[in-house]
Amino acid sequence: MYNVTSLIVRQHSLGAGTMFNNKVVLVTGASSGIGASCAMKFAELNASLSLIGRNVNKLNETASSCEQICGLKPLIIVADITNIDDIDRIINNTLNKYGKIDVLVNSAGVSSLAGIQPDIEAFDYVMASNLRGPYLLTTKVIPHLIETRGNIVNISSMLSFKPLPAMTAYCMSKAAIDMFSKCLALELGPKGVRVNTVNPGPVRTPLFTTSGMKESDVKAMFRIVESNAPLRIVTEATDVANIVTFVASESARCVTGCSYFVDSGLSLGDAK
Ligand SMILES: NC(=O)c1ccc[n+]([C@@H]2O[C@H](COP(=O)([O-])OP(=O)(O)OC[C@H]3O[C@@H](n4cnc5c(N)ncnc54)[C@H](OP(=O)(O)O)[C@@H]3O)[C@@H](O)[C@H]2O)c1
Repeated sequence: MYNVTSLIVRQHSLGAGTMFNNKVVLVTGASSGIGASCAMKFAELNASLSLIGRNVNKLNETASSCEQICGLKPLIIVADITNIDDIDRIINNTLNKYGKIDVLVNSAGVSSLAGIQPDIEAFDYVMASNLRGPYLLTTKVIPHLIETRGNIVNISSMLSFKPLPAMTAYCMSKAAIDMFSKCLALELGPKGVRVNTVNPGPVRTPLFTTSGMKESDVKAMFRIVESNAPLRIVTEATDVANIVTFVASESARCVTGCSYFVDSGLSLGDAK
């Protein structure tokens, strides 16, 4: 009899490969949702992993799933990407353990259900987590990616280009991440470093309840997504992870400055 985690581990183990043999992949937000799924997919492809998050128990869960999948024990770094000292520790610990960095996946992020409002707190919180944190970490990782001719995958959102007035700061932060990635792609291309974004539509992760939505409202939202998305399916975290590992791999060696929309067609509009 399997529990959910062992089923996921088994699913990942079935497709084990060697695409990321000897590659060091640093994943932020690896304690949950899309980041955790990316970590497991990279493990399936034999990557050496550095996993970042704030919740040590959830990080340990992801790490032990990765270890079961490929036999390699990931490095866990409990860190807050909004804290500059933590950013330095992420880099130092990863280099101490592996000596290099080949891929950075910036998945850590938060959501906030807020339109324009005089209270600047929600705006600051979203921007610190979704934009300033990834920006700071990226600037510190870049010299090491130039050495390895590595690449960056930033987890953006379909909402980077589709305005949603109930999530103004979130949409702004993701639009900025898209432009950040394009500017970097242009600057770092001649140095052999690729930079891309993966832009999911709504994915079933704790992101919504963490931002204050009621469980019943989340369920109702996903029922609407499923019936209105052109493909009539909900995008899952594993669907996003599949595209992230592809973009980060040598198979995409000519791809930079691109945004991959993984959204069951939703950014095209509702297909009723
Ligand atoms: N779910 C969706 O529908 C959806 C759609 C489009 C884009 N995205 C994007 O996908 C990314 C991942 O979201 P998710 O859906 O996987 O959400 P999630 O399950 O809530 O995971 C968010 C992750 O980010 C980490 N995190 C947040 N703030 C952090 C900080 N200051 N320092 C370190 N880690 C931090 C959390 O770590 P701890 O829990 O350990 O603190 C957690 O691992 C986000 O950038 C989100 O904007 C999600």
